Amino acid sequence: MKDYWQNYIDGAFVDGGAGRIDVINPGNGEKLAEQALADSADVDRAVQAARRVHLSGALSDLRPVERGRMVQAMGRYLLEHIDEIAKVLTLEQGKPLWESQIEIEGAARYFEYYGNQAETVEGRSIPLGKGYFDFTTYEPFGVSAQIIPWNYPIEMTARSLSAALATGNTCVIKTPELTPLSNAWFAHAAEAVGLPKGAVNILCGLGHDAGAALSAHSDVNQIVFTGSVPTGIVIASAAAQNVVPCVLELGGKSAAIVHDDADLDAFENDVRWGIYFNAGQVCSAMSRVIAHDSIHDALVERMVGVAQSLEVKAGIEQPEFGATMGAMVSDAQRDRALGMIAEAQSQGARVATGGHKLNRPGAFLEPTILTDVTPDMTIANEEVFGPVLSVLKFSSDEQAFRIANGTPYGLVGGVFTRDLDRATSAARQLRAGQVFVNEWYAGGVETPFGGYGKSGYGREKGREALWNYVQTKNVAIKLKG
Ligand code: NAI
Ligand code: MG
Repeated sequence: MKDYWQNYIDGAFVDGGAGRIDVINPGNGEKLAEQALADSADVDRAVQAARRVHLSGALSDLRPVERGRMVQAMGRYLLEHIDEIAKVLTLEQGKPLWESQIEIEGAARYFEYYGNQAETVEGRSIPLGKGYFDFTTYEPFGVSAQIIPWNYPIEMTARSLSAALATGNTCVIKTPELTPLSNAWFAHAAEAVGLPKGAVNILCGLGHDAGAALSAHSDVNQIVFTGSVPTGIVIASAAAQNVVPCVLELGGKSAAIVHDDADLDAFENDVRWGIYFNAGQVCSAMSRVIAHDSIHDALVERMVGVAQSLEVKAGIEQPEFGATMGAMVSDAQRDRALGMIAEAQSQGARVATGGHKLNRPGAFLEPTILTDVTPDMTIANEEVFGPVLSVLKFSSDEQAFRIANGTPYGLVGGVFTRDLDRATSAARQLRAGQVFVNEWYAGGVETPFGGYGKSGYGREKGREALWNYVQTKNVAIKLKG
């Protein structure tokens, strides 16, 4: 393990103008390495490099299949280096080693998918009658700035970088302060596949410093952000000042409605993944279960069983897929979750299992289930971003929708029932960008993802996401005769 990691600007690994930051291993609380911190001058150099490549046409003038092949090759590069990346990702982020492997495979899928899509971005011809020929083309915006969160640093960078490159944009990636190291492999991948110097820049810096400088930079043409609502508002405001579009993906308080006719055996598996995968640090986590009165107690008993079956330990000690969970990303995030659990208890919620940190160094929190949660409680409305599930009750479908839709968020939602009419009615009534029926996280890279309400706007993943990275040009030609 290297003890110092640099930023990657204009094809070179460089120190940061703002010095260095310690990266902590949340699995043991010890310092893992140092990361160079960019300042606003570094950000400017990265943006200018990306702009130079964009204006040169080195990417945007290529036949799309050629860009697509490079994008696909980046995904293969990640897979070829999966073991070394997974180790660093686990050490800096806390997740089980087997989850890091899944994350890197997911990242590679983005490069495969958008690499394949590169040559499908086609314009159309619009009839204007005799004497005119009119057509549309889709052109890249230019410099795409991408501000990355710490929960899935590899997958989130892959998601935006792959689509941006496939459509011919150049990129400046601002990696998260807590988990910056594993993103270095995107720099190596860009070099390995032959992208021009400056097409991909990867730098870490503090949010309020380098992050703010990047989102306010007047030569940035498009912004992608995943993270918290307050930061999303700051970034969207900066984008507005420069009149550039942005995509915001801001998390949620997503609910699964579980009816009395649901397949409870199958649902146990959804609980395991929905709230304990990545220790619950997932924007689309199943952080609320709204259970029908008649099955509530039986369901809680099953869910408690799932929570208690999980072994919690350092991610690096978890090479094999299994009933395990790692550390949260930092002591601060863990303590924030503990504070929210305490507040929920003071408002009348009951801890059915978990609720404590582990008595050892590292950012460990027990898999937790809170019952007797009511819609007015803070815990029912605010994102914990940890392994903490809130259980609420309902007696009528209408009440279930009211509870599910009762937060400012609207990222995803789920309904569990064997009744097709009930399921399709729920799909229509849930105010969320994605609805899961009988399987949480059903879907994939191919399916569009993004929020209603304060969960943000724009869509990532799927064909939809391509349109974030291009602008339409119409060409109208007056013909002679
Ligand atoms: P954050 O939203 O502040 O940080 C996310 C990214 O934005 C980081 O790269 C950070 O450096 C950058 N950033 C921060 N301030 C910025 C600014 N003024 N201008 C430009 N970039 C800036 O999230 P944070 O503070 O790490 O976590 C707080 C909470 O946010 C979490 O507890 C969780 O609820 C939520 N969150 C949600 C995520 C999601 O996937 N939707 C991911 C990360 C956090
Ligand atoms: Mg913040």
